[in-house]
Amino acid sequence: MNAPGASVETAFPVPAGCFAETVTEVKHYTDRLFAFRMTRPSSFRFRSGEFVMIGLRNAERPVFRAYSMASPSWDDELEFFSIKVPDGPLTEHLQKIQPGDTVLMKKKPTGTLVNDALLPGKRLYLFATGTGVAPFASLIRDPETYEKFEQVILLHGCRLKDELAYGHKVVELAREDPLVGAQASAQLLHHASTTREESPNMGRLTDGIQSGKILEALNLPPLDPEVDRAMICGSMEFLKDCKALLEGMGLTEGANNRPAEFVVERAFVG
Ligand code: A2P
Repeated sequence: MNAPGASVETAFPVPAGCFAETVTEVKHYTDRLFAFRMTRPSSFRFRSGEFVMIGLRNAERPVFRAYSMASPSWDDELEFFSIKVPDGPLTEHLQKIQPGDTVLMKKKPTGTLVNDALLPGKRLYLFATGTGVAPFASLIRDPETYEKFEQVILLHGCRLKDELAYGHKVVELAREDPLVGAQASAQLLHHASTTREESPNMGRLTDGIQSGKILEALNLPPLDPEVDRAMICGSMEFLKDCKALLEGMGLTEGANNRPAEFVVERAFVG
């Protein structure tokens, strides 16, 4: 194992407009997925569900990619959940970080998966595949989410069982949390499913909603544009199909300046 700080080169200057933060913890969930925590600049504020551009201090002009804050906005540190893309210009290096290493973060958070982009409603559906669960890991630990919605339903779909572990962990943390634990225990529902490995819930989320199977299992009525709201985060194909599914049920897409019934995060694809 490398000594702390030795795994990623940090000889280059910090680019203008960036924070340089210190990694405090790294956890590998599978050979494709890992999470890391780092220090949080005292001036950095964000709304739960937003993302920021992350890079490494390993080049004169480093590569940056969009990462959702997975930690709640009240946390002293920042947490991110990442895929390891084979030969990915950022993640092939990022997956090697260790406590003590430096991670660059651009100063301005942004994103569409925020409570403000939705009209008031009764239920909030959070649709995620893979690492798309990251922004929702933040939102399910934000008291405002539970003040705005009576029920919050986290739907997480992955290929394999081990890939669901991070979602299970953040739901558990939300339910045990001193700040939101009581609300999360009463109001948060979690449905985790796999498509390529046997598990208690099998199948694509879109199919399970379309057929009514998931709603039936959770004891929820069919989606109703009057009271149901949704956020979508995942692969490009998933975003497209999930958007079509919700539009077919009468929900319309909103944005920060035009709140409506559902929002989609497109920052991680393409
Ligand atoms: P599947 O195994 O049937 O492709 P990925 O790792 O490719 O991003 O996929 C993560 C999860 O999202 C997998 O369970 C995958 O199912 C599912 N998925 C991929 N595309 C779609 C889609 N268009 N609609 C619904 N689920 C999808």
